[in-house]
Amino acid sequence: MTHDLSPADRAKRAAAARALNFVETGMTLGLGTGSTADWMVRLLAERMKAEGLRIIGVPTSTRTAAQASALGIPLSTLDAAGWLDLTIDGADEFDGARRLIKGGGGALLQEKIVAAASDRMVVITDPSKQVDRLGAFPLPVEVVRFGYETTARLVARVLEDHGLGGRRVALRGGPDGALVTDEGHHILDLHLGAIPNPERLNADLNLIPGVVETGLFCGLASVIVIGREDGTAQVIGA
Ligand code: 5RP
Repeated sequence: MTHDLSPADRAKRAAAARALNFVETGMTLGLGTGSTADWMVRLLAERMKAEGLRIIGVPTSTRTAAQASALGIPLSTLDAAGWLDLTIDGADEFDGARRLIKGGGGALLQEKIVAAASDRMVVITDPSKQVDRLGAFPLPVEVVRFGYETTARLVARVLEDHGLGGRRVALRGGPDGALVTDEGHHILDLHLGAIPNPERLNADLNLIPGVVETGLFCGLASVIVIGREDGTAQVIGA
């Protein structure tokens, strides 16, 4: 019953439903993380039951793994699957070049590894996430716990080189309740406002030894699906 849903959920559901048109039986499918991906996993399970669609899922987080397995979706690991036909995942921001900020849900590392091991990545979004320049959403950067404060200082130095000196670098959850990711790391959220050169920032941050990965996804998204409150969806890049 879609009329009971909030406008935001109607848009998320519309994006998820449209993205599932890219799924074919026999595929190995990367299952993203977040509230939009949650819709995709629910609708996928429904289609598997109703239409006999057969896929093997590779989840990008313990949260998605728990949801998918509770819904009866057969799962594998990335190593066992080797390579994926398609990954469907959400995003926190996207721009006109199909570059993304991800990691608002704390799963950017597995999400990026899975997306990079997929023939195609279909991103499920809504209009609120479309931006001219990435960076209004704080950029998540996954860092190892050892020496994370020093890593944060090195991150600040890289930001200076990018004309982003003085921007806030915040440990997610704060020092007393720091978030620990599925891979046992912390996340620094970089409050940047606008990122002049996302590819270069991603490369430079990844050169810092304590940085594991950034939430900048450049050159990974093949298709963006923008769901709308009226239940329609726009597809970019198919
Ligand atoms: C999780 C993510 C999510 O895809 C991103 O945060 C979007 O989530 P939502 O669909 O809930 O807005 O990157 O790490």
